[in-house]
Amino acid sequence: MNKIIIAIDGFSSCGKSTMAKDLAKEIGYIYIDSGAMYRAVTLYCIEHGLFLADGSIDEDKLKQQMSNIHISFRLDTESGRPRTFLNGTDVENQIRTLEVSSHVSPVAALGFVREALVRQQQELGKEKGIVMDGRDIGTAVFPDAELKIFVTASAEIRAQRRYDELKAKGQEASFEDILHNVEERDRIDQTREVSPLRKADDAILLDNSNMTIAEQKEWLMNQYLQAT
Ligand code: C5P
Repeated sequence: MNKIIIAIDGFSSCGKSTMAKDLAKEIGYIYIDSGAMYRAVTLYCIEHGLFLADGSIDEDKLKQQMSNIHISFRLDTESGRPRTFLNGTDVENQIRTLEVSSHVSPVAALGFVREALVRQQQELGKEKGIVMDGRDIGTAVFPDAELKIFVTASAEIRAQRRYDELKAKGQEASFEDILHNVEERDRIDQTREVSPLRKADDAILLDNSNMTIAEQKEWLMNQYLQAT
């Protein structure tokens, strides 16, 4: 069967990565979580003091240091799930904290950050056979992707899912903080100048507010089968 590129975009915390990961595993494709790359750059900024006292980013320093930031993925042998590495260190857990979530969208709005990460993402997909999820995969990273999905769900439902996820990992979280973070990220992601979050004209819309994970999985598999 011909290998294709599958682009899954959408709003924050709407279950894109779970769907994408499951599909990739089932059909033997590579899975890339592009959000993890923006999160890793954000963690680097936090760890290296690149956020200034007023909360803004020291853009000049980050620009100078971009070439020191190496992001890679390795499969966890036990779970078969990919883990994110920043300069050789496993940062999979650190990049999922609310602290990183609250800082990531301004970092992802910087043109030079996007340029560097998009280049890497395109390189990862050049052999096709890849499922990538994010905000601009169908519009900017792989505008010619054979299958594009755009996922959405109500902000409350998305915040509840993220809350349950953090709780399950034993992380402290307040539902209100998470809801605020989800809405704020959507706002910044949709209004930024460079590659704002939007549905590609040829993407298929999926509102999964009232769908179980199993139903989404089946829906996505059907889309894949129709596209190949
Ligand atoms: O997908 P996830 O929620 O982990 O992404 C974190 C943040 O990274 C998003 O809120 C968005 O600001 C940014 N992002 C992006 N472009 C992508 C993927 C993520 O701007 N392709």
